[in-house]
Amino acid sequence: MEVVRSVQALRQIVGDWRGQGLSIGLVPTMGALHRGHMALVARSLQGTDRTIATLFINPKQFGQGEDLDSYPRDEQSDKEKLSQVGVHLLFAPDVAEMYPPGFATEVRVKGLGEILEGASRPGFFDGVATVVSKLLNQAGADRAFFGQKDYQQLLVIMTMARDLNIATAIEGVATVREEDGLAMSSRNVYLNAEERRVAPALYKTIAEVAAKAATGAEIAEVEAWGLGQLLAAGFERVDYLSVHDGQTLAPYVERSRAGRVLVAARLGRTRLIDNVAV
Ligand code: PAJ
Repeated sequence: MEVVRSVQALRQIVGDWRGQGLSIGLVPTMGALHRGHMALVARSLQGTDRTIATLFINPKQFGQGEDLDSYPRDEQSDKEKLSQVGVHLLFAPDVAEMYPPGFATEVRVKGLGEILEGASRPGFFDGVATVVSKLLNQAGADRAFFGQKDYQQLLVIMTMARDLNIATAIEGVATVREEDGLAMSSRNVYLNAEERRVAPALYKTIAEVAAKAATGAEIAEVEAWGLGQLLAAGFERVDYLSVHDGQTLAPYVERSRAGRVLVAARLGRTRLIDNVAV
C-alpha cells in the first residue's frame, strides 16, 4: 500500500488509474480504525478496482472543549490494518496540506445540518461538509463509502454532494456492532469498565423505541419512555432521543414512511451516538 500526503501525489496516482480505465472507491476516516471502518473498506474493495482510504483528523469538526487533542491516534496500526486487507492507497495529509494559509471557504448544509447533532455540536457538520467536499474533489473517486453509524452525517454528505454536483456516488454501509449491541466507535476506548457495562443500553433502548414506534405507539410517549430508560441505566445526559423521518429527519408524522430513531447521550466523559431504523 502506498502512502501519500499531498493532493498532488494523490492526483497523480488517481490519474494513472483513470488512464488504465480502473474504477476507484474512497473511504474517508479519522483513523483509530475498527471493524466498522473495515466494513466500509471491504465494500469498496469488493465493488471497485482501486480503494483509497483517507486518514485525517479534521480540526474543523471539533468544537471548543471537544476531544481534538485526546482523539485516539495510531497511524502505524491503521496502516497495517489497511494494507493487510489490500487497500491500494492511503491519503494522510497534514493540517497545512488541507487548510493552507488563506483557506477561507466553508460548506454548510442548512436545515439538515442544523438539527440534532448540528444543534448539540454547533459547526460540526460545517466542518464535516467542508472536509468531505475537499476529499471528494481531491480523489475524484467513482464511489465513496460512509457508515450509517453516523446517520445524519451520511444524509448531510449526500445532500452536499447532490447540491454541489459532485460526481462521486455516496453510499451508506450498515452499522457494525459489538456482540452486546454497542456500535463500534473510535471513542469507545474512552469508556471505563463500568461505563462499558452500561453502554449497550443505548442500542437496546433505541431498538425498543423503534419497535414501539413501528406498532403505532404515540411518538412523544415512546421518546419519553426511552429517555427514562437511558437515565435509569446510568447515562448522565441525553442530548436527544427522538424519532424522525428516515430521509428528511423531519419529525416522524408520516408513519407509512421509513423512520429513524436517533440518540446522543453522555456516559462519564464520553458522548455516544447511535441510530436504528423504524
Ligand atoms: P470516523 O469517525 O473515523 O468514521 C469514518 C467512517 O466510518 C464514517 O463514514 C463512519 O460513519 C464510519 N463508521 C464509524 N463507525 C462505524 C460502525 N460502527 N459501523 C459502520 N461504519 C462506521 O466520520 C468521520 O470519521 C468523519 O466525520 C469523516 C467523515 C472522516 C470526515 O472527517
